[in-house]
Amino acid sequence: MGNEELLNETGKYWNSRYEENRTGWDLSQASPPLKNYIDTLANKNAAILIPGCGNAYEAEYLLSKGFTNITLIDIAPTLVNKLKEQFKGKPINVILGNFFEHNGKYDLMLEQTFFCALDPSLRKKYVEKSYSLLNANGKIAGVLFGVLFEKEGPPFGGTKEEYELLFKPKFSFLQFDVCKTSIAPRMGNELFIEFEKKPG
Ligand SMILES: C[S@@+](CC[C@H](N)C(=O)[O-])C[C@H]1O[C@@H](n2cnc3c(N)ncnc32)[C@H](O)[C@@H]1O
Repeated sequence: MGNEELLNETGKYWNSRYEENRTGWDLSQASPPLKNYIDTLANKNAAILIPGCGNAYEAEYLLSKGFTNITLIDIAPTLVNKLKEQFKGKPINVILGNFFEHNGKYDLMLEQTFFCALDPSLRKKYVEKSYSLLNANGKIAGVLFGVLFEKEGPPFGGTKEEYELLFKPKFSFLQFDVCKTSIAPRMGNELFIEFEKKPG
C-alpha cells in the first residue's frame, strides 16, 4: 500500500469512529496524568505537539494555563474540521495529516492513546519520527498502556520491557513507572513516561 492510500484508509477508519460516535477512548476531559505533568512545566512558550490529538482536551487545558505554542495533528477530517472551528483565533495550529508525514520542530510531544492506536509494526517508526520532530533535549511525555490486551487492537498494548528496548537507542528515561493518577478503569494499566531525546 502506498503512502497516500495508507493515509486515506487510516483516515477513513478513524473518521468513521468519530462519525459513528465509537470513541471509547475519549475521556471527555484532559487526561489527569497529563494535566499533572503540564502543571510542572515552567516554559509557557515551549513548542508542544499533540499527535493523534482526538478531541484535544489537553490543548484546552494548555490554553487555560497560558501556553502559547501548541500544534495538534490528527488524520480524521471530520474531527479536525471541528477542532479548527473550536480553536479559531486561539494560539493553536490544527493540522489535518499523518503524523509520520509531518515536519516540524517541538520541545515536547504529549502522548495520550496515540501510540496504542497505531499498528505495532509502526512502533519503531514512531520512535524515529518523534526523535526527528524534537529539538535537542526535547521530550515525549504522557501515558502508554503497560499491559497486553486479549482483544485485537486498537488499542494495542505492550510491556515496559518492550518499550525499554524500543526507546532506549534514542531516548533517556526521566520517568517510566506505573501511573498513579490514571482514570479508574485504567488504573494500574498505564505507564507514565517522560523520555528525553538523546544527543546525536
Ligand atoms: C485512540 S484515538 C486517541 C485520541 C486522543 N489522543 C484521546 O486520547 O482522546 C487515536 C487518534 O489518533 C488519530 N490517528 C491515528 N493514526 C494517525 C496518524 N497516522 N496520524 C495522525 N493521527 C492519527 C486518530 O484519528 C484518533 O483521533
